[in-house]
Amino acid sequence: MGESITVTDNRNGASVEIPIVDGGVDSARWRDLLGGVWFYDPGMASTAVTSSAVAEIDGEAGILRYRGYPIEQLARSSTFPEVAYLLMYGELPDEAQLAEWSYDITRHTFIHENFRKRIYDAFHYDAHPMGLLVSGVAGLSTFYPEAKDIFDPENRRAQVVRMIAKMPTLAAAAYRFSRGLPFQFPDNEDDYPTRFLKMMFDIGGEYQPDPALVQAMRVLFILHADHGQNCSTTATRVVGSSHADPYTAIAAGCAALYGPLHGGANEAVINMLNGIGDYDSVDDFIAGVKEGKQRLMGFGHRIYKNYDPRAVIIKAAAHDVFKVIDKNPLLDIALKLEEVALADDYFISRRLYPNVDFYSGLIYQALGFPTNMFTVLFAIGRTPGWLAHWNEMVEQNSRIYRPRQIYTGAPLRDYVAIEDR
Ligand code: ACO
Repeated sequence: MGESITVTDNRNGASVEIPIVDGGVDSARWRDLLGGVWFYDPGMASTAVTSSAVAEIDGEAGILRYRGYPIEQLARSSTFPEVAYLLMYGELPDEAQLAEWSYDITRHTFIHENFRKRIYDAFHYDAHPMGLLVSGVAGLSTFYPEAKDIFDPENRRAQVVRMIAKMPTLAAAAYRFSRGLPFQFPDNEDDYPTRFLKMMFDIGGEYQPDPALVQAMRVLFILHADHGQNCSTTATRVVGSSHADPYTAIAAGCAALYGPLHGGANEAVINMLNGIGDYDSVDDFIAGVKEGKQRLMGFGHRIYKNYDPRAVIIKAAAHDVFKVIDKNPLLDIALKLEEVALADDYFISRRLYPNVDFYSGLIYQALGFPTNMFTVLFAIGRTPGWLAHWNEMVEQNSRIYRPRQIYTGAPLRDYVAIEDR
Protein backbone atom coordinates (compact mmCIF):
# COMPACT_ATOMS: atom_id res chain seq x y z
CA MET A 1 0.00 0.00 0.00
CA GLY A 2 1.24 3.56 -0.75
CA GLU A 3 0.41 6.41 1.61
CA SER A 4 -2.20 5.55 4.21
CA ILE A 5 -3.57 6.33 7.65
CA THR A 6 -4.28 3.88 10.46
CA VAL A 7 -7.32 4.41 12.67
CA THR A 8 -7.43 2.58 16.00
CA ASP A 9 -10.56 2.17 18.11
CA ASN A 10 -9.19 2.61 21.64
CA ARG A 11 -12.26 0.92 23.09
CA ASN A 12 -11.25 -2.47 21.76
CA GLY A 13 -7.86 -2.05 20.05
CA ALA A 14 -9.28 -2.85 16.57
CA SER A 15 -7.69 -0.85 13.78
CA VAL A 16 -8.00 -0.29 10.07
CA GLU A 17 -5.47 0.99 7.55
CA ILE A 18 -7.03 3.24 4.93
CA PRO A 19 -5.14 4.26 1.76
CA ILE A 20 -4.88 7.95 0.91
CA VAL A 21 -6.09 8.26 -2.70
CA ASP A 22 -5.99 11.65 -4.49
CA GLY A 23 -5.71 13.41 -1.13
CA GLY A 24 -8.77 11.67 0.38
CA VAL A 25 -9.56 8.63 2.53
CA ASP A 26 -12.61 6.48 1.91
CA SER A 27 -15.16 7.00 4.70
CA ALA A 28 -16.68 3.55 3.98
CA ARG A 29 -13.49 2.00 5.40
CA TRP A 30 -13.84 4.10 8.54
CA ARG A 31 -17.46 3.00 8.79
CA ASP A 32 -16.42 -0.69 8.62
CA LEU A 33 -14.48 -0.17 11.84
CA LEU A 34 -16.50 2.51 13.56
CA GLY A 35 -20.12 2.21 12.41
CA GLY A 36 -22.28 4.61 14.46
CA VAL A 37 -19.38 7.03 15.18
CA TRP A 38 -19.76 9.92 12.77
CA PHE A 39 -17.36 12.59 11.60
CA TYR A 40 -18.54 15.82 13.20
CA ASP A 41 -17.94 18.38 10.44
CA PRO A 42 -20.30 21.40 10.59
CA GLY A 43 -20.25 23.29 7.30
CA MET A 44 -18.51 20.30 5.69
CA ALA A 45 -15.17 22.06 6.13
CA SER A 46 -13.12 18.83 6.06
CA THR A 47 -15.37 16.60 3.98
CA ALA A 48 -14.96 15.84 0.27
CA VAL A 49 -18.50 14.97 -0.82
CA THR A 50 -17.52 13.89 -4.32
CA SER A 51 -14.71 13.58 -6.80
CA SER A 52 -14.94 16.22 -9.51
CA ALA A 53 -12.97 17.11 -12.63
CA VAL A 54 -14.54 20.55 -13.20
CA ALA A 55 -12.52 23.11 -11.23
CA GLU A 56 -9.27 22.87 -9.30
CA ILE A 57 -8.78 25.24 -6.38
CA ASP A 58 -5.65 25.62 -4.28
CA GLY A 59 -6.67 27.98 -1.50
CA GLU A 60 -3.19 28.17 0.02
CA ALA A 61 -1.56 29.22 -3.25
CA GLY A 62 -4.52 31.31 -4.52
CA ILE A 63 -5.02 29.17 -7.66
CA LEU A 64 -8.23 28.56 -9.63
CA ARG A 65 -8.34 26.50 -12.83
CA TYR A 66 -11.29 25.38 -14.94
CA ARG A 67 -10.61 21.90 -16.36
CA GLY A 68 -6.88 22.61 -15.91
CA TYR A 69 -6.86 26.04 -17.59
CA PRO A 70 -5.73 28.94 -15.35
CA ILE A 71 -8.51 31.41 -14.71
CA GLU A 72 -6.18 34.27 -15.68
CA GLN A 73 -5.73 32.85 -19.22
CA LEU A 74 -9.45 32.25 -19.69
CA ALA A 75 -10.33 35.75 -18.44
CA ARG A 76 -7.79 37.23 -20.87
CA SER A 77 -8.52 35.19 -24.01
CA SER A 78 -11.78 33.27 -23.89
CA THR A 79 -15.49 34.03 -24.19
CA PHE A 80 -18.22 33.11 -21.73
CA PRO A 81 -19.92 30.61 -24.12
CA GLU A 82 -16.56 28.95 -24.75
CA VAL A 83 -15.89 28.70 -21.00
CA ALA A 84 -19.38 27.27 -20.50
CA TYR A 85 -18.60 24.59 -23.10
CA LEU A 86 -15.25 23.86 -21.44
CA LEU A 87 -16.89 23.43 -18.05
CA MET A 88 -19.62 21.20 -19.44
CA TYR A 89 -17.58 18.94 -21.68
CA GLY A 90 -14.05 19.11 -20.27
CA GLU A 91 -12.26 20.38 -23.40
CA LEU A 92 -12.08 23.63 -25.31
CA PRO A 93 -14.34 23.32 -28.36
CA ASP A 94 -12.95 23.24 -31.91
CA GLU A 95 -14.38 25.74 -34.40
CA ALA A 96 -17.31 23.55 -35.50
CA GLN A 97 -18.20 22.62 -31.93
CA LEU A 98 -18.08 26.25 -30.80
CA ALA A 99 -20.20 27.37 -33.76
CA GLU A 100 -22.87 24.77 -32.98
CA TRP A 101 -22.80 25.52 -29.25
CA SER A 102 -23.00 29.29 -29.78
CA TYR A 103 -25.85 28.83 -32.24
CA ASP A 104 -27.77 26.68 -29.76
CA ILE A 105 -27.35 28.95 -26.76
CA THR A 106 -28.36 31.91 -28.92
CA ARG A 107 -31.40 30.26 -30.46
CA HIS A 108 -32.90 29.43 -27.08
CA THR A 109 -32.73 32.87 -25.50
CA PHE A 110 -36.46 33.63 -25.63
CA ILE A 111 -38.72 32.88 -22.69
CA HIS A 112 -42.38 31.93 -22.82
CA GLU A 113 -44.67 34.96 -22.87
CA ASN A 114 -46.45 33.66 -19.79
CA PHE A 115 -43.33 34.36 -17.81
CA ARG A 116 -43.38 38.02 -18.45
CA LYS A 117 -47.10 38.57 -18.56
CA ARG A 118 -48.37 36.14 -15.96
CA ILE A 119 -45.62 34.87 -13.68
CA TYR A 120 -43.44 37.94 -13.14
CA ASP A 121 -46.43 40.27 -13.21
CA ALA A 122 -47.90 38.39 -10.25
CA PHE A 123 -45.06 39.55 -7.97
CA HIS A 124 -45.09 42.66 -5.84
CA TYR A 125 -43.98 45.68 -7.87
CA ASP A 126 -40.72 46.07 -5.94
CA ALA A 127 -39.87 42.35 -5.64
CA HIS A 128 -36.15 41.61 -5.29
CA PRO A 129 -35.01 40.38 -8.74
CA MET A 130 -33.18 37.47 -7.12
CA GLY A 131 -36.49 36.29 -5.66
CA LEU A 132 -37.97 36.49 -9.15
CA LEU A 133 -35.04 34.58 -10.60
CA VAL A 134 -35.26 31.76 -8.04
CA SER A 135 -38.96 31.39 -8.81
CA GLY A 136 -38.46 31.84 -12.55
CA VAL A 137 -35.84 29.11 -12.83
CA ALA A 138 -38.00 26.72 -10.78
CA GLY A 139 -40.96 27.68 -12.98
CA LEU A 140 -39.05 26.68 -16.15
CA SER A 141 -39.34 23.05 -15.09
CA THR A 142 -43.10 23.23 -15.65
CA PHE A 143 -42.56 24.45 -19.22
CA TYR A 144 -40.14 21.61 -20.01
CA PRO A 145 -41.52 18.53 -18.23
CA GLU A 146 -39.32 16.27 -20.39
CA ALA A 147 -36.37 17.58 -18.37
CA LYS A 148 -37.18 14.93 -15.77
CA ASP A 149 -35.59 12.31 -18.01
CA ILE A 150 -32.15 13.08 -16.63
CA PHE A 151 -30.44 9.86 -17.74
CA ASP A 152 -30.78 10.68 -21.46
CA PRO A 153 -27.61 12.63 -22.45
CA GLU A 154 -29.29 14.36 -25.41
CA ASN A 155 -32.15 15.49 -23.20
CA ARG A 156 -29.67 16.78 -20.59
CA ARG A 157 -27.87 18.75 -23.28
CA ALA A 158 -31.14 20.34 -24.39
CA GLN A 159 -31.87 21.59 -20.86
CA VAL A 160 -28.30 22.79 -20.37
CA VAL A 161 -28.51 24.83 -23.57
CA ARG A 162 -31.87 26.27 -22.58
CA MET A 163 -30.70 27.32 -19.17
CA ILE A 164 -27.47 28.99 -20.30
CA ALA A 165 -29.45 30.76 -23.05
CA LYS A 166 -32.42 31.87 -20.96
CA MET A 167 -30.75 32.90 -17.74
CA PRO A 168 -29.83 36.45 -18.97
CA THR A 169 -33.34 36.85 -20.42
CA LEU A 170 -34.97 35.85 -17.12
CA ALA A 171 -32.58 38.11 -15.24
CA ALA A 172 -33.17 41.17 -17.43
CA ALA A 173 -36.92 40.57 -17.38
CA ALA A 174 -36.81 40.53 -13.57
CA TYR A 175 -34.98 43.86 -13.56
CA ARG A 176 -37.32 45.52 -16.06
CA PHE A 177 -40.35 44.30 -14.18
CA SER A 178 -39.00 45.80 -10.94
CA ARG A 179 -38.47 49.12 -12.75
CA GLY A 180 -41.82 49.09 -14.57
CA LEU A 181 -39.95 49.10 -17.89
CA PRO A 182 -41.18 47.32 -21.03
CA PHE A 183 -39.53 43.98 -21.68
CA GLN A 184 -36.69 44.03 -24.20
CA PHE A 185 -36.43 40.98 -26.47
CA PRO A 186 -33.00 39.37 -26.91
CA ASP A 187 -31.15 40.34 -30.07
CA ASN A 188 -29.60 37.13 -31.32
CA GLU A 189 -27.11 38.99 -33.51
CA ASP A 190 -25.25 40.18 -30.38
CA ASP A 191 -22.65 38.33 -28.38
CA TYR A 192 -23.65 37.01 -24.96
CA PRO A 193 -22.65 39.97 -22.74
CA THR A 194 -23.81 42.61 -25.23
CA ARG A 195 -27.17 40.90 -25.62
CA PHE A 196 -27.63 40.88 -21.89
CA LEU A 197 -26.61 44.52 -21.42
CA LYS A 198 -29.04 45.58 -24.15
CA MET A 199 -31.90 43.57 -22.62
CA MET A 200 -31.15 45.36 -19.38
CA PHE A 201 -30.67 48.93 -20.47
CA ASP A 202 -31.92 49.55 -23.99
CA ILE A 203 -34.92 51.79 -24.40
CA GLY A 204 -35.96 52.59 -27.96
CA GLY A 205 -32.96 50.96 -29.63
CA GLU A 206 -30.47 53.66 -28.66
CA TYR A 207 -28.31 51.88 -26.11
CA GLN A 208 -24.98 50.58 -27.38
CA PRO A 209 -22.63 49.54 -24.55
CA ASP A 210 -19.04 50.80 -24.56
CA PRO A 211 -16.71 47.91 -25.63
CA ALA A 212 -14.79 48.30 -22.36
CA LEU A 213 -17.98 47.62 -20.42
CA VAL A 214 -18.79 44.58 -22.57
CA GLN A 215 -15.27 43.32 -21.82
CA ALA A 216 -15.80 43.81 -18.08
CA MET A 217 -19.08 41.90 -18.25
CA ARG A 218 -17.38 39.08 -20.19
CA VAL A 219 -14.59 38.84 -17.60
CA LEU A 220 -17.00 38.89 -14.66
CA PHE A 221 -19.18 36.14 -16.15
CA ILE A 222 -16.08 33.98 -16.77
CA LEU A 223 -14.68 34.54 -13.28
CA HIS A 224 -17.95 33.51 -11.68
CA ALA A 225 -18.51 30.45 -13.87
CA ASP A 226 -17.37 27.84 -11.38
CA HIS A 227 -15.84 27.37 -7.98
CA GLY A 228 -15.94 23.73 -7.01
CA GLN A 229 -18.23 22.54 -4.24
CA ASN A 230 -19.33 25.97 -2.99
CA CYS A 231 -22.61 26.46 -1.10
CA SER A 232 -24.84 26.96 -4.17
CA THR A 233 -23.23 24.16 -6.19
CA THR A 234 -23.64 21.86 -3.23
CA ALA A 235 -27.30 22.93 -2.95
CA THR A 236 -27.73 22.12 -6.66
CA ARG A 237 -26.11 18.73 -6.13
CA VAL A 238 -28.13 17.95 -3.00
CA VAL A 239 -31.41 18.60 -4.82
CA GLY A 240 -30.15 16.98 -8.05
CA SER A 241 -29.09 13.88 -6.12
CA SER A 242 -32.77 13.06 -5.57
CA HIS A 243 -33.09 13.00 -9.41
CA ALA A 244 -35.15 16.18 -9.49
CA ASP A 245 -35.07 17.86 -12.93
CA PRO A 246 -32.19 20.30 -13.58
CA TYR A 247 -34.37 23.46 -13.40
CA THR A 248 -35.43 22.55 -9.88
CA ALA A 249 -31.85 21.71 -8.93
CA ILE A 250 -30.50 24.99 -10.34
CA ALA A 251 -33.31 26.92 -8.61
CA ALA A 252 -31.92 25.48 -5.36
CA GLY A 253 -28.49 26.76 -6.39
CA CYS A 254 -29.96 30.23 -7.03
CA ALA A 255 -31.67 30.16 -3.65
CA ALA A 256 -28.41 29.31 -1.89
CA LEU A 257 -26.61 32.04 -3.80
CA TYR A 258 -29.14 34.62 -2.59
CA GLY A 259 -27.71 34.68 0.95
CA PRO A 260 -25.33 37.48 2.04
CA LEU A 261 -22.58 35.05 3.03
CA HIS A 262 -22.44 33.73 -0.53
CA GLY A 263 -23.67 35.48 -3.69
CA GLY A 264 -25.27 38.32 -1.76
CA ALA A 265 -21.90 39.46 -0.47
CA ASN A 266 -21.19 41.86 -3.36
CA GLU A 267 -24.45 43.69 -2.61
CA ALA A 268 -23.46 43.71 1.06
CA VAL A 269 -20.06 45.21 0.10
CA ILE A 270 -21.70 48.20 -1.59
CA ASN A 271 -24.07 48.67 1.35
CA MET A 272 -21.04 48.53 3.64
CA LEU A 273 -19.07 51.06 1.55
CA ASN A 274 -22.09 53.39 1.47
CA GLY A 275 -22.42 52.99 5.22
CA ILE A 276 -18.77 53.90 5.78
CA GLY A 277 -19.49 56.93 3.64
CA ASP A 278 -16.07 58.54 3.36
CA TYR A 279 -12.39 57.80 3.25
CA ASP A 280 -11.71 59.12 6.77
CA SER A 281 -14.18 56.73 8.43
CA VAL A 282 -12.32 53.61 7.30
CA ASP A 283 -10.19 53.29 10.45
CA ASP A 284 -13.24 53.48 12.73
CA PHE A 285 -15.01 50.88 10.63
CA ILE A 286 -12.04 48.48 10.82
CA ALA A 287 -11.91 49.00 14.60
CA GLY A 288 -15.59 47.99 14.75
CA VAL A 289 -14.88 44.85 12.70
CA LYS A 290 -12.12 43.89 15.15
CA GLU A 291 -14.50 44.39 18.07
CA GLY A 292 -16.91 41.97 16.36
CA LYS A 293 -19.57 44.63 15.65
CA GLN A 294 -19.64 43.80 11.93
CA ARG A 295 -17.82 41.83 9.29
CA LEU A 296 -15.67 43.29 6.58
CA MET A 297 -17.83 42.10 3.69
CA GLY A 298 -15.93 40.88 0.62
CA PHE A 299 -13.11 39.65 2.84
CA GLY A 300 -12.36 36.10 3.91
CA HIS A 301 -13.09 32.81 2.25
CA ARG A 302 -13.54 29.24 3.43
CA ILE A 303 -11.00 27.98 0.89
CA TYR A 304 -8.69 30.89 0.06
CA LYS A 305 -6.20 31.69 2.76
CA ASN A 306 -4.46 33.93 0.27
CA TYR A 307 -5.61 36.61 -2.19
CA ASP A 308 -8.59 35.21 -4.13
CA PRO A 309 -7.18 35.01 -7.71
CA ARG A 310 -10.50 36.30 -9.07
CA ALA A 311 -10.20 39.44 -6.93
CA VAL A 312 -6.82 40.23 -8.53
CA ILE A 313 -8.36 40.13 -12.02
CA ILE A 314 -11.48 42.06 -10.98
CA LYS A 315 -9.45 44.79 -9.29
CA ALA A 316 -7.56 45.29 -12.59
CA ALA A 317 -10.86 45.20 -14.54
CA ALA A 318 -12.25 47.90 -12.22
CA HIS A 319 -9.35 50.18 -13.11
CA ASP A 320 -10.01 49.51 -16.85
CA VAL A 321 -13.68 50.37 -16.47
CA PHE A 322 -12.93 53.58 -14.62
CA LYS A 323 -10.70 54.72 -17.51
CA VAL A 324 -13.78 55.03 -19.76
CA ILE A 325 -16.43 56.13 -17.26
CA ASP A 326 -16.44 58.29 -14.17
CA LYS A 327 -14.70 56.65 -11.25
CA ASN A 328 -17.01 55.19 -8.65
CA PRO A 329 -16.22 57.27 -5.52
CA LEU A 330 -16.61 54.12 -3.41
CA LEU A 331 -13.47 52.72 -5.09
CA ASP A 332 -11.23 54.95 -2.96
CA ILE A 333 -12.91 53.72 0.23
CA ALA A 334 -12.51 50.11 -0.93
CA LEU A 335 -8.83 50.59 -1.77
CA LYS A 336 -8.17 52.12 1.63
CA LEU A 337 -10.12 49.36 3.41
CA GLU A 338 -8.01 46.77 1.64
CA GLU A 339 -4.79 48.58 2.48
CA VAL A 340 -5.67 48.98 6.17
CA ALA A 341 -6.97 45.42 6.54
CA LEU A 342 -4.01 43.78 4.83
CA ALA A 343 -1.64 45.57 7.25
CA ASP A 344 -3.65 44.72 10.36
CA ASP A 345 -2.80 41.76 12.58
CA TYR A 346 -6.50 40.81 13.02
CA PHE A 347 -6.80 40.09 9.28
CA ILE A 348 -3.25 38.81 8.83
CA SER A 349 -3.51 36.26 11.65
CA ARG A 350 -6.87 34.97 10.33
CA ARG A 351 -5.58 35.02 6.76
CA LEU A 352 -8.46 37.18 5.53
CA TYR A 353 -7.96 38.61 2.04
CA PRO A 354 -10.29 40.25 -0.50
CA ASN A 355 -12.54 37.71 -2.20
CA VAL A 356 -14.30 37.83 -5.57
CA ASP A 357 -17.03 40.08 -4.21
CA PHE A 358 -14.87 42.87 -2.87
CA TYR A 359 -14.45 44.75 -6.17
CA SER A 360 -17.12 43.19 -8.43
CA GLY A 361 -19.95 45.32 -7.02
CA LEU A 362 -18.07 48.51 -7.85
CA ILE A 363 -17.92 47.48 -11.51
CA TYR A 364 -21.54 46.39 -11.56
CA GLN A 365 -22.56 49.72 -10.11
CA ALA A 366 -20.47 51.55 -12.70
CA LEU A 367 -22.15 49.56 -15.47
CA GLY A 368 -25.49 50.86 -14.20
CA PHE A 369 -26.78 47.82 -12.30
CA PRO A 370 -28.73 48.51 -9.12
CA THR A 371 -27.32 46.66 -6.11
CA ASN A 372 -30.19 44.20 -5.94
CA MET A 373 -29.16 42.88 -9.38
CA PHE A 374 -25.61 41.94 -8.30
CA THR A 375 -26.44 38.44 -7.11
CA VAL A 376 -28.48 37.91 -10.26
CA LEU A 377 -25.34 38.67 -12.30
CA PHE A 378 -23.43 36.15 -10.23
CA ALA A 379 -26.17 33.59 -10.94
CA ILE A 380 -25.90 34.09 -14.72
CA GLY A 381 -22.14 33.55 -14.50
CA ARG A 382 -22.41 30.51 -12.22
CA THR A 383 -25.08 28.71 -14.27
CA PRO A 384 -22.60 26.73 -16.46
CA GLY A 385 -20.75 25.66 -13.31
CA TRP A 386 -23.91 24.45 -11.59
CA LEU A 387 -24.89 22.59 -14.76
CA ALA A 388 -21.43 21.05 -15.21
CA HIS A 389 -21.53 19.69 -11.65
CA TRP A 390 -25.10 18.49 -12.04
CA ASN A 391 -24.19 16.73 -15.31
CA GLU A 392 -21.09 15.21 -13.76
CA MET A 393 -23.12 13.96 -10.81
CA VAL A 394 -25.70 12.33 -13.09
CA GLU A 395 -22.93 10.71 -15.15
CA GLN A 396 -21.34 9.40 -11.96
CA ASN A 397 -24.77 8.03 -10.95
CA SER A 398 -23.94 9.29 -7.47
CA ARG A 399 -25.89 8.40 -4.36
CA ILE A 400 -28.53 10.63 -2.83
CA TYR A 401 -27.09 13.14 -0.31
CA ARG A 402 -27.95 11.97 3.17
CA PRO A 403 -25.58 13.23 5.88
CA ARG A 404 -25.69 12.02 9.47
CA GLN A 405 -26.14 14.12 12.60
CA ILE A 406 -24.95 14.01 16.18
CA TYR A 407 -28.19 13.95 18.14
CA THR A 408 -28.03 16.23 21.20
CA GLY A 409 -31.75 16.53 21.99
CA ALA A 410 -33.87 15.20 24.82
CA PRO A 411 -33.72 11.48 25.62
CA LEU A 412 -36.89 9.34 25.41
CA ARG A 413 -39.78 10.90 27.34
CA ASP A 414 -43.54 10.50 27.46
CA TYR A 415 -46.06 12.89 25.93
CA VAL A 416 -47.66 15.20 28.54
CA ALA A 417 -51.27 16.32 28.10
CA ILE A 418 -51.55 20.11 27.73
CA GLU A 419 -53.39 20.60 31.03
CA ASP A 420 -50.53 18.89 32.88
CA ARG A 421 -47.65 21.00 31.45
N1 ACO B 1 -14.67 40.17 8.63
C1 ACO B 1 -14.21 40.04 9.90
N2 ACO B 1 -13.85 38.87 10.46
C2 ACO B 1 -13.97 37.78 9.68
C3 ACO B 1 -14.43 37.83 8.35
C4 ACO B 1 -14.78 39.10 7.83
N3 ACO B 1 -15.23 39.21 6.57
N4 ACO B 1 -14.44 36.59 7.83
C5 ACO B 1 -14.00 35.78 8.80
N5 ACO B 1 -13.70 36.50 9.93
C6 ACO B 1 -13.14 35.98 11.17
C7 ACO B 1 -14.20 35.27 12.01
O1 ACO B 1 -14.83 36.16 12.89
C8 ACO B 1 -13.39 34.21 12.69
O2 ACO B 1 -12.69 34.84 13.74
P1 ACO B 1 -12.49 34.09 15.16
O3 ACO B 1 -11.60 32.93 14.84
O4 ACO B 1 -11.87 35.11 16.03
O5 ACO B 1 -13.86 33.66 15.60
C9 ACO B 1 -12.36 33.81 11.66
O6 ACO B 1 -12.18 34.96 10.81
C10 ACO B 1 -12.78 32.62 10.79
O7 ACO B 1 -14.05 32.94 10.20
P2 ACO B 1 -15.19 31.90 9.89
O8 ACO B 1 -16.50 32.58 9.92
O9 ACO B 1 -15.00 30.67 10.71
O10 ACO B 1 -14.84 31.51 8.39
P3 ACO B 1 -15.77 30.67 7.42
O11 ACO B 1 -14.85 29.91 6.55
O12 ACO B 1 -16.83 29.92 8.16
O13 ACO B 1 -16.52 31.82 6.60
C11 ACO B 1 -16.97 33.49 5.00
C12 ACO B 1 -16.14 32.25 5.34
C13 ACO B 1 -18.46 33.17 5.18
C14 ACO B 1 -16.74 33.84 3.54
C15 ACO B 1 -16.54 34.64 5.92
O14 ACO B 1 -15.18 34.95 5.72
C16 ACO B 1 -17.39 35.88 5.75
O15 ACO B 1 -18.46 36.00 6.39
N6 ACO B 1 -16.96 36.85 4.88
C17 ACO B 1 -17.76 38.00 4.61
C18 ACO B 1 -18.84 37.63 3.61
C19 ACO B 1 -18.29 37.45 2.22
O16 ACO B 1 -17.50 38.22 1.72
N7 ACO B 1 -18.75 36.37 1.57
C20 ACO B 1 -18.37 36.07 0.20
C21 ACO B 1 -17.59 34.80 0.14
S1 ACO B 1 -17.04 34.48 -1.48
C22 ACO B 1 -18.39 33.86 -2.27
O17 ACO B 1 -19.30 33.31 -1.73
C23 ACO B 1 -18.42 34.04 -3.69
